[in-house]
Amino acid sequence: MPHNGVASGLTSPYNRLMTNTPPTTAGLPVVAEPHLSAQLNAAAVETEPVLPVHPSVVVLDFGSQYSQLITRRVRELNVYSQLVPSDATWEQVRELNPKAVILSGGPSSVYDPDAPSLPPWVADCGLPVLAICYGLQLLAHRLGGKVEPAHVREYGPSVLSLEQQSPLFAGLSGDLPVWMSHGDSVTELPEGFEPLGSTPAARYSAVRKGDVYGLQFHPEVVHTPAGKQILANFVHGVAGLAPDWTASEFIEDAVTAIKGQVGSERVLCALSGGVDSSVAATLIHKAIGDQLTCIFVDNGLLRQGEAVQVVQVFRDQQHLDLRHVDASDRFLAALSGVVDPEEKRRRIGETFIRVFEEEALKLGDVPYLAQGTLYPDVIESATPATRYAAKIKTHHNVGGLPSDLSFKLIEPLRMLFKDEVREVGIRLGLPPEIVHRQPFPGPGLAVRVLGEVIPGDLEVLRRADAVVRREIAAAGLERQIWQSFAVLTPLRTVGVMGDGRTYGNVLAIRAVTSDDAMTAAWARLPYEVLDRISTAVVNEVREVTRVVYDVTSKPPGTIEWE
Ligand code: XMP
Repeated sequence: MPHNGVASGLTSPYNRLMTNTPPTTAGLPVVAEPHLSAQLNAAAVETEPVLPVHPSVVVLDFGSQYSQLITRRVRELNVYSQLVPSDATWEQVRELNPKAVILSGGPSSVYDPDAPSLPPWVADCGLPVLAICYGLQLLAHRLGGKVEPAHVREYGPSVLSLEQQSPLFAGLSGDLPVWMSHGDSVTELPEGFEPLGSTPAARYSAVRKGDVYGLQFHPEVVHTPAGKQILANFVHGVAGLAPDWTASEFIEDAVTAIKGQVGSERVLCALSGGVDSSVAATLIHKAIGDQLTCIFVDNGLLRQGEAVQVVQVFRDQQHLDLRHVDASDRFLAALSGVVDPEEKRRRIGETFIRVFEEEALKLGDVPYLAQGTLYPDVIESATPATRYAAKIKTHHNVGGLPSDLSFKLIEPLRMLFKDEVREVGIRLGLPPEIVHRQPFPGPGLAVRVLGEVIPGDLEVLRRADAVVRREIAAAGLERQIWQSFAVLTPLRTVGVMGDGRTYGNVLAIRAVTSDDAMTAAWARLPYEVLDRISTAVVNEVREVTRVVYDVTSKPPGTIEWE
């Protein structure tokens, strides 16, 4: 397999398992697992590992809302793909072992003064190219064709009439429904290009010159039903890439890379039991065994049975060197008398750092800290201006921490999307309850007991939440819902049970669907399920006398109540 080792600025899947990058830290809360580099010092150390890089399809990002989706679609074809900024140089791209290039769409017009330009290497690299929307316009413009504002702007469904057969449209013919989203169109083709198909508003909606193809429509969106076939034709047929980028292949390569980087050194991992840290820890353990030590800080704010499950799965089943630190009392003491949600978060975060720090120091010299950073965090944390630099140079220091707690970061999942991480987790033998777990906030149940966290209330919420989770699971809805949980309000209302009057708390049920937690819709749970939850909670949790369902989406609400 090809290799590289030069720190050029782009992260490849394996040669940069170790980085100094801070994951997304701005604007908490955004992630459901605490990312330690936001909290602990991570020292900047450059390494130049020589490691395998899987053949890839490089997607140049011209700013389309669908850019990341193109990468995902290619990966769904079991071919590795990576999104890179549109101004990436050939030296940087070459490190990714590219076998084909896709130019994304984008919001610009080629005539805008600040429009992103086509890197010169694209025309000369000799690789198959698929230029989509703005990518096509840019390519045509650059190679001497003509781009003009469309007479009719096309946003939404259209029909592509195929005129010519080509490898890109192998197995397809006639009229194909496609999704358009453009203002400009190519009106004259550059020399050597031939039209393959047109839509009513765009004469050159599919064009070709050898292995260079251009599409005015978006094959990556579901509204182009043949899009998957077109991308498969490009990736497998035109570029000749085999569908061999699988979870097992990833694990094999990552294990080699981790071994190569870590050598005989030790690695520390904060294991929360969430999907990302669980998969990262298991993967690293597969590579280096007991050189990995995991610290599981039990903050007393976990859900029913969770701490026991983490210990069982990771210590007893996976045989990880897991230190279970029961710091419940310390967290509860830190929360005593605190009502403000942000102050609760701050105290929990600070206590976590202190506990983790103490435990880490007990272990002696451990140079590496493992984190479950994912690809979306990596993409989001890179601004256009700092994209290269931010990924490999920046190190995030939090003031006030002892300098002897500085780590080199190891982030084996930083090139994976969440669903890919889940596949890797299953392949590593983790139980589905861990791998398909819903996100759970770092501050845990503390942000679901409204106001001051009193141990008795915490226990009431824990029992009520267990009932909600049980009923959601029994209805088979757990995986369809992003998050579903209970919130204990301090409101007390009157009820009647048997012949007696009751007076107890109002419990709110929250269930949302979402793709990334940035926006969310309240889940349309069947009335029967809501009914079962309500009945079961009031019957089984004496302190709760009334159940309400939260029908607020995000925005304007947030997912958590605090
Ligand atoms: P909100 O409530 O802001 O939550 O809509 C978005 C996502 O983030 C989770 N969340 C947190 N995760 N620390 C975390 O690690 C936090 O302080 C925190 N607050 C909310 C929440 O569960 C949802 O998935």
